[in-house]
Amino acid sequence: MTGHPVTSFLEVDDLDPARLRALLDHAVAWKADPSRVPRVLAGRAAAALFQKPSARTRISVEVAVATLGGHPIYVREEEVGLDVRETVEDVARTMAGMCAVIAARVFEHATLDRMAAVVDVPIVNLLSDVAHPCQALADLLTIREHFGAVEGRRMAYIGDGNNVAASLAFGAALSGLELAIASPHGYELAGSIVDRARNLGGAVELADDPYDAVRDADVVYTDVWTSMGQEAERSQRVRAFEGWTVDGALMKAAPEHAVFLHCLPAHRGEEVAAEVIDGPQSLVWQQAANRMHAVRAVLVDLLSSGAE
Ligand code: CP
Ligand code: NVA
Repeated sequence: MTGHPVTSFLEVDDLDPARLRALLDHAVAWKADPSRVPRVLAGRAAAALFQKPSARTRISVEVAVATLGGHPIYVREEEVGLDVRETVEDVARTMAGMCAVIAARVFEHATLDRMAAVVDVPIVNLLSDVAHPCQALADLLTIREHFGAVEGRRMAYIGDGNNVAASLAFGAALSGLELAIASPHGYELAGSIVDRARNLGGAVELADDPYDAVRDADVVYTDVWTSMGQEAERSQRVRAFEGWTVDGALMKAAPEHAVFLHCLPAHRGEEVAAEVIDGPQSLVWQQAANRMHAVRAVLVDLLSSGAE
């Protein structure tokens, strides 16, 4: 490994194409042969701080840290009282004094920036209101495993232009994945993110008809209509997204070889029909398991120098 300066991973565009490729190469190699996983956390601890619930992310980080030889410490916000019991900065300073890395799932992305500003250990974004970069890496890994390569493939993202869509846009831009995003009016991905992804070389198209978006897609992706932290908007969102379920009819409009991805948790009958997520085109369980392989490669990238 090349020994990057201490750096954080707050969004996929913290990487460049070569570093993203190397990271996916490592994830593939260590998945195939766990005996080659470098013990970069031997004798050290990693903090995993959560302001929101999680299944995949918490488990992926804990398993990744353990298999890197380290000790994961799961901390819930209620326990440390961010900006209540003490400031975000003081919590981060405390963790950095005893942990080699701080991974955090937060409501406001600015919380991650505040942590990164005061510590000299890497911060890993485990989901914020605007980004879910570890998820996007697992998604790219799943596409690479299934199709042999990411570059030149095409994804149709159907639904909310949210944190998951944003990280996919950057991941797609850095890996040569074409991306068509179809969202109901008012729920499109922010123009600033689309512009940035295009400036990075991304082929990002916006559509308002999901049938147009999936026509040439190798991958059909969706996420929940109401993200964590948006619960008060739920009934309004259910109305706005009516007709946007990824169902069997929509999958039939995609090429026969297309696969279905969803970051999970899923709501069958809302954003995805059971026949799709539980059907033969779905790779969601491979995708979920890849969360660990992806975050492990991220941790090694951030923590190692001369790990190989
Ligand atoms: N996809 C994902 O981040 O799942 P969790 O919210 O369960 O961690
Ligand atoms: N967009 C969803 C992703 C969950 C993994 C959320 O933020 O709740």
